[in-house]
Amino acid sequence: MNILLTGGAGYIGSHTCVALIQAGFTPVILDNFSNSHPAVLQRLQRITGQALACERGDVLDTPWVQDVLRRHRVAGVMHFAGDKAVGESVAQPLKYYRNNIGGAVSLLEAMQAAGCQTLVFSSSATVYGDPASVPITEDFPRQHTNPYGHTKLVIEDMLAAMGVADPLWRLGVLRYFNPVGAHPSGQIGEDPAGPPNNLMPYVAQVAVGKRPHLNVYGNDYATPDGTGVRDYIHVQDLAAGHVAALQALLGRGESFTVNLGTGQGHSVLDVVRAFEQASGRPVPYQLAPRRAGDVAQCYADASLAQSLLGWRATHSLAEMCADAWRWQSGNPNGYAPSNE
Ligand code: WQD
Repeated sequence: MNILLTGGAGYIGSHTCVALIQAGFTPVILDNFSNSHPAVLQRLQRITGQALACERGDVLDTPWVQDVLRRHRVAGVMHFAGDKAVGESVAQPLKYYRNNIGGAVSLLEAMQAAGCQTLVFSSSATVYGDPASVPITEDFPRQHTNPYGHTKLVIEDMLAAMGVADPLWRLGVLRYFNPVGAHPSGQIGEDPAGPPNNLMPYVAQVAVGKRPHLNVYGNDYATPDGTGVRDYIHVQDLAAGHVAALQALLGRGESFTVNLGTGQGHSVLDVVRAFEQASGRPVPYQLAPRRAGDVAQCYADASLAQSLLGWRATHSLAEMCADAWRWQSGNPNGYAPSNE
């Protein structure tokens, strides 16, 4: 069964490709490589032992997407393609509204025209904004604090409206918490362009000596050690969650929205210590002012995904750091050819 992954050469998409193949599906990658690297394709072939079909182009090109869906006889779609940097979205909102919302509209139009109505959508815990309490369940109020989060919230609403208009749509909305780590082979991983916005890749670059120190954005939050608490989830668990979501849609067929998290929060300093343990390297840090838009705590109640999909995260923070370190230390320049 052919499954189209928009943005399939990206961080979450590439790991999900591996999990899909291991579950007996055939992934087809659709990517414009604006925030991913073609070298991923060879790495995926090395891991899976098979060449993956890849269509290079933009999800905004509706007629082309429809043609891809038809040519590959796509049975279901996983929509990863989109921009995801919170800070950039504040500086360039139109880019985010066009690429994320426009891209989702284009994809849905192409799917409708091609008669493919099974979709897994990559949403984010950012739709919860600053939660009144933790852990967070799926019925918590949604609020956006930046254009990136707003695009995720709007796309969720678009999908809900599509499901009301035509109950034949089978829609799985997955709200990621904080994806980290890498495939245990060390062949694929997170490869941010420029200085990483996110904590784990930044810590990894400090440990490998690419950055002098980590800036810890505030230690006066109402948390156990004063630093921000998040629900870090191994990308391998996240990939497995996508396969479970697809199987549920293809089986029972009802639409759903679930959190994909571990249900456990870890602070910035927890991550620093765990990474030092995993890498055997020091991770020096300096205290810095709070980052605009950050919340004190954000972690999931992950019980609905377990009851609906029979899925739960199994990897520990130590495993997340060990796999992130293997990727970072083995690929100091990410997917770019090493210039040593
Ligand atoms: C985690 C914690 C920071 C960097 C964002 C998006 C979310 C998703 C994941 C896309 C916070 C602290 C960070 C650093 C630090 N993205 N930190 N120094 O902000 O929880 O979530 O990325 O889907 O939608 O909102 O993740 O990794 O940026 O921050 O102290 O150099 O680490 O303050 O407490 P965040 P993050």
